[in-house]
Amino acid sequence: MSHIPSSEITPEQLFWQRRRMFSLPMFAGASTLLAACGSAAPVSQEPPATPEAPFTPGAVVGQSDELGNTLTPYETVTGYNNYYEFTTDKERVKDVAAGFVTSPWSVVVDGLVAKPRTFGLEDLQALQAAERIYRLRCVEGWSMVVPWSGFPLHALLSLVEPTATAKYVRFETLNDVTRMPGQSEPWYQWPYVEGLRLDEAMHDLTLMATGVYGKPLPAQNGAPLRLVVPWKYGFKSIKAVVRITLTDTQPTSLWMAAAPDEYGFFANVNPRVDHPRWSQADERRIGELGRRPTLVFNGYKDQVASMYTGMDLRKFY
Ligand code: MTE
Repeated sequence: MSHIPSSEITPEQLFWQRRRMFSLPMFAGASTLLAACGSAAPVSQEPPATPEAPFTPGAVVGQSDELGNTLTPYETVTGYNNYYEFTTDKERVKDVAAGFVTSPWSVVVDGLVAKPRTFGLEDLQALQAAERIYRLRCVEGWSMVVPWSGFPLHALLSLVEPTATAKYVRFETLNDVTRMPGQSEPWYQWPYVEGLRLDEAMHDLTLMATGVYGKPLPAQNGAPLRLVVPWKYGFKSIKAVVRITLTDTQPTSLWMAAAPDEYGFFANVNPRVDHPRWSQADERRIGELGRRPTLVFNGYKDQVASMYTGMDLRKFY
């Protein structure tokens, strides 16, 4: 990938300037922020189904995540992408996706729910209450640190009221080869599908992102709406979501269908479980020269490990 001279970018500065304008709660102390996140969601008063120790990465003033990692520049976050519906060339996704129309857009939320509903973008805007700095670790062995904005997925799911039989959440990307030329490649089963267990979906770290660096999400990053699950490999974070379906059976993702020996349902970041074709012990942070150790659950172990107690994470990869 091409090197972007630091003289050409002022991403962090730009981001934090915008942040002040937005006066979002992230600059507050952690406890204030958590209260704000809970109460700022205007339509959902429901707590997550599985309340976890409250935690919001990036609840630090400055230009880094809660571990001190510097944000990846905006130009890199939006210029080096995986989005097979457009092209497999990471540095060309932004160009191929440039004219992608993301409005009007609607998201069907259905399946095992009491109140199935179709949401328009304006409905989703009412849910926007979260800003999160998350590490993104791609299964290919590279990573970034990205400041997202959006809303916790549980805020949306609680509106449709999952039934007692709902155990999984299935996500689907737009399926329209006239708008997504990469879908003419026949060796993947389109549309792109991903899934989470319901407790994972309801976890407060699980975000639906509509923005990055305080700006609307660009097409190449999954506009107008994409999932972000920071403790899982990046392929779980499905882009351009049009359907969210609650089910009682484990969904089969596009990657599970394409290469079942290589990609499992859980895909939790785990430096101790290698990909069959390469090590997952370390990663290249985009913009850095060397490699750095990969962290268990991508550094979110304290927040998410309890969801996997008793599971053999080599088997459930
Ligand atoms: N979602 C869809 N619909 N199509 C894709 O090809 N690629 C995934 C994920 N979501 C992908 C997708 C992969 S492999 C990664 S690493 C992340 O998106 C990359 O997100 P980014 O381009 O915003 O960094």
